[in-house]
Amino acid sequence: MKILVTSALPYANGDVHFGQLGGAYLPADIYVKYHRLKGSDIVYICGSDEHGVPIILAAQRQNVSPKAIIDRYHERIRQAFDGIGIEFDNYSRTSLPVHHRTARDFFVRVYEKGYIKPESTRQLYCPSCRMFIADRYVEGTCPHCHTEGARGDQCEACGRWIEPLDLESPKCMTCGATPEVRETRHWFFALSQFQEPLRRWLDSKTNWKANVKRFCAGWFEQGLRDRSITRDLSWGVPVPLPEARDKVMYVWFDAPIGYISSTKEWAERTGRSDRWRDYWLDPGTKLVHFIGKDNIVFHAMVWPAMLMAHGDFVLPGEIPANEFINIESRKISTSRNWAAWLPEYLAELPPDPLRYALAVNLPENRDVDFAWRDYQARSNNELADVLGNFVNRVAVFLRRNYGGRVPDVTADDEPSLEVLKTIEATTGRLGEMIEGFRLKAAAREVMTLPALGNRYFDGRAPWRQFRDARAECDRTMNTCVRLISALEPLLYPFLPFTSRKLGRLLGLGRRSWDDASRPAVPAELGEPEILFEKVDDAVIEAQLARLGVKESDETVQGAKDSVPAKVLDPAASKPEPVKEEPMLSFEDFKKVQLRVARVKSAERVPDTDKLVKLVVNLGDEERQIVAGIGKAYEPAALVGRQVVVVANLAPARLRGVESNGMLLAAVDGDRVALVAPDAEVAPGSEVS
Ligand code: 2FM
Ligand code: ZN
Repeated sequence: MKILVTSALPYANGDVHFGQLGGAYLPADIYVKYHRLKGSDIVYICGSDEHGVPIILAAQRQNVSPKAIIDRYHERIRQAFDGIGIEFDNYSRTSLPVHHRTARDFFVRVYEKGYIKPESTRQLYCPSCRMFIADRYVEGTCPHCHTEGARGDQCEACGRWIEPLDLESPKCMTCGATPEVRETRHWFFALSQFQEPLRRWLDSKTNWKANVKRFCAGWFEQGLRDRSITRDLSWGVPVPLPEARDKVMYVWFDAPIGYISSTKEWAERTGRSDRWRDYWLDPGTKLVHFIGKDNIVFHAMVWPAMLMAHGDFVLPGEIPANEFINIESRKISTSRNWAAWLPEYLAELPPDPLRYALAVNLPENRDVDFAWRDYQARSNNELADVLGNFVNRVAVFLRRNYGGRVPDVTADDEPSLEVLKTIEATTGRLGEMIEGFRLKAAAREVMTLPALGNRYFDGRAPWRQFRDARAECDRTMNTCVRLISALEPLLYPFLPFTSRKLGRLLGLGRRSWDDASRPAVPAELGEPEILFEKVDDAVIEAQLARLGVKESDETVQGAKDSVPAKVLDPAASKPEPVKEEPMLSFEDFKKVQLRVARVKSAERVPDTDKLVKLVVNLGDEERQIVAGIGKAYEPAALVGRQVVVVANLAPARLRGVESNGMLLAAVDGDRVALVAPDAEVAPGSEVS
């Protein structure tokens, strides 16, 4: 079967951060590397998304042309992917002629089939920016749930689709001005006509992830509306209709077509320019789109409808969409620089430990947190102490006692057979996990093998066997080398750089995935290389100090104010000892009604830096609560989070604002951390 894998095309308007890496690129790369080792017919396609308002805004902010922005970031993004070991078959750009051509042909075909029609529309226009405002760049109050801070395309609080004109109190997010409504003509893609075909197609995807299905179900419920696919901008793919000369395609129309044009570029580059057709025109191709959850609607609904309208191309076969990665418990915000950036990381630290820390904690089913202390612990306790240690002790022992030669054995004994059986079973399980997109479980599983190696080594005590029972020692060491030999391909999808070091140590040449089940041994080991350096505290402290405080070209001034005053070092603080008095009876404690709530909106109480006014949802009611967390949290970052509230606290007024409850938070000196349930629960759930 042919497999065509894509990762969402990143906008070439900034560097790649850990959230994107763990959401759409690392998982795809693991999947692809595995398949390459299996010998599958697989092509991995990506490229920079170089059109759209995100590029224009970055250009405006930096006072350069859009072209300067895309040239700069395309190159930086490409290099960063390379540095972290993401191996695309092709990394293209949507500004290339091949893409413009492909997008134009696609548009024309869909137009000729009658699925694209013009319509006069009224849109929000910002008089001060002098442009129509894209849906995502207008903010206001959600017309459905009345949460403030909703974007003009979707409300994060209630999840519903918003028509920008329906937003209450709209504001241009670029300049803060109040937009006006202006008449313009646009071309609409007849998405509404695909409601039933899409529904039937999605229903047939019984194994798709719940997040994707849920999202689409919500959309069907609202009913699919035709979507405007042209824009009044000068940057983008020109619309190929004489009557629309001044318009460009909406970036979300041309970007996914980039998957096709990047495949074309790959075919051209590799010498068989028609080869792209073998994948795109064959309905048997398995088309796999790796994306983050913010891209679900486009990949699971709009793009498949575009493909249906066009008619020639294969539809997506799998959409393994990931949830989000938070950094140090806070939602990533690129505008506030609350993010960890890949190029910065690679300038100082090696790629594999980051791949590992992200892989064992992929946001497959829920949002996850990336914490630098966790990165440090994983690097030191798992990579260095388990994997690095196993390989090192085997290599050192052989060097010292066997002159680096690997002893031959004629027959295996029970314990070695056990190890070999485990390798085989693990190889099979790993394959199933990866093919089923359970990559986090696979990353954890593969590390059980070096742990087994250490147990085996310790149990056999070769340092004694060498003295007392040489033949046994030979067997021990031979088995250990076979385990390393199996690790070489098995680790490759997760830790390619480490796997290559093992490859050099073993010198066995190119290995396949299936070689892991019958691991070969070389006559001699090569020069051992250090696999992992320990990450010391200073490295972690430097990373923490950098969070949110770098004034990058994208950084919004004033962001520093929103960063917790003291980010970390739990060891440095000394909490008060628990007081023995007064004792609380169980009856008294039960009077406190603790409930889980979801934050619907949050804003700073004017003229304070500490007080935040929140509206929280408690299941069947909404409450306004004022909390003293403004120094530790940026209000916007709280929206959507679950918190624990004291629900039956007598009302109070803080700075004249009514508060009907209290949020629970841990207080550590200047540091304030909200208490939240460990997993999502229904708002209103009791905490007891
Ligand atoms: O969200 C984003 O970063 C978009 N540039 C993703 C595009 S994916 C595809 F359709 F090209
Ligand atoms: Zn504006």
